[in-house]
Amino acid sequence: MKLILIAAHDPNLVIGKDGTLPWHYSEDLKFFKRTTMGHPLLMGRVVFEELNEKPLPGRENVVLSRSKNYDHVNTFSTIDAALDYLSDHDKVFVIGGGEIYRQMLGRADELVITEIKNEYEGDTFFPEYRDQIGKTWKETWREEHEEFSFVKYERAD
Ligand SMILES: NC(=O)c1ccc[n+]([C@@H]2O[C@H](COP(=O)([O-])OP(=O)(O)OC[C@H]3O[C@@H](n4cnc5c(N)ncnc54)[C@H](OP(=O)(O)O)[C@@H]3O)[C@@H](O)[C@H]2O)c1
Repeated sequence: MKLILIAAHDPNLVIGKDGTLPWHYSEDLKFFKRTTMGHPLLMGRVVFEELNEKPLPGRENVVLSRSKNYDHVNTFSTIDAALDYLSDHDKVFVIGGGEIYRQMLGRADELVITEIKNEYEGDTFFPEYRDQIGKTWKETWREEHEEFSFVKYERAD
């Protein structure tokens, strides 16, 4: 199973503010949708609440929480239990938020990053990985747009 972290961050690694995204780029949302469609999504409880507890369609939604257990989505209280449950899939997309990215960066096989060019205020951050580009992470694809770039990194070791 390939574990892929997918995130959008600004130049300072900001990913969120007050429990939501600090920006709205519809092209990025479309990119997220077409990249993840058909594959399971693994997310933290805060992200699931941001979705109003409605699973994203066409993809199995799996939630990590130690405090809640939802009836309509599989919820796991440990990362290992969630990954064990998802182990038969060829790709699993980890869709955040900050707490989940931080715990899973070291286990990820691939990063799919939207580099937002503007700076935003925020309270939630993607973990530092850029010091490992060219070492742990090899850039394998990049698509430039005016306001952001889509970039893929694969684990080099
Ligand atoms: N820009 C982006 O690409 C992007 C993507 C996703 C999210 N975001 C932003 O990120 C922010 C949310 O991130 P966040 O860090 O606050 O929350 P989060 O990572 O979505 O969720 C944190 C929660 O997940 C559960 N959790 C964490 N580690 C766990 C573990 N090892 N086992 C079981 N459960 C675990 C806990 O839930 P319980 O408290 O219920 O135990 C914890 O409170 C929002 O602002 C959102 O908009 C941005």
